[in-house]
Amino acid sequence: MGPYQSTLNCLTHRHREQAHSYKGVCHLELSLQHAMLPVTATDREAAMSAPSMTLYHNPLSPFVRKVMVLLHETGQQNRVALQTSVLTPVNPDLTLIEDNPLSKIPALRLADGNIIHDSRVILDYLDHQHVGNPLIPREGSARWRRLTLASLADGIMDAAVLVRYETALRAPEKHWDEWLDGQRNKIRRALALLEKDAIAELTCHFDVAAISVACALGYLDLRHPDLDWRTANPQLAAWYFEVSQRPSMIATMPKV
Ligand code: BEZ
Repeated sequence: MGPYQSTLNCLTHRHREQAHSYKGVCHLELSLQHAMLPVTATDREAAMSAPSMTLYHNPLSPFVRKVMVLLHETGQQNRVALQTSVLTPVNPDLTLIEDNPLSKIPALRLADGNIIHDSRVILDYLDHQHVGNPLIPREGSARWRRLTLASLADGIMDAAVLVRYETALRAPEKHWDEWLDGQRNKIRRALALLEKDAIAELTCHFDVAAISVACALGYLDLRHPDLDWRTANPQLAAWYFEVSQRPSMIATMPKV
């Protein structure tokens, strides 16, 4: 068994198909690529700045927004083409399902055709693709603390999106009020913890933790202004006002 065959044995069915087709056409592709090499400086610049990845995207999703903010903060926004995905739990995006059976955004198609998801995995991947300071600490206690704050923010988003689905998609007479209260209370408790314990930590770095909290708060403003989160959390509100001025936050502000 040659090295090509042993590699092939480790691949999934879909990857196998891709690998077989690569084996068959690679010479043709290479010669075509060679024939199409950019000839002028402008052509070369255009080729280098062309997006090499595709992000399943919806500007209203706070999870997608985290990815977009990280792309802006790390100067990688031109590396990703956006493919709009409009979906709900009862109306999945059929194109997306082919790449992510969960039909959840964001999902990122890499240059080699592989798909990665969810937002945490995508953030981690993209944070390994730039040369600036990492926005997810690579090791030590900072890593676990920053990821835990980010997880708290993701939990706020999860609860807020679930409340949005229940209230916007289900008939009012079918609303489960205790469940809605339970989700809203999760949000309130998480915000209270951030207000009490995390303001200094959020202020010191605009990293995975701060990006995630900022996107969660942005989504509360978008879909749940009735929660009036600023009144109970004035320090968080002041912090959010500051970070909302960042170009990455302005560029990704959700609009309905
Ligand atoms: C929204 O419209 O609230 C929404 C859109 C996509 C994902 C999550 C939420």
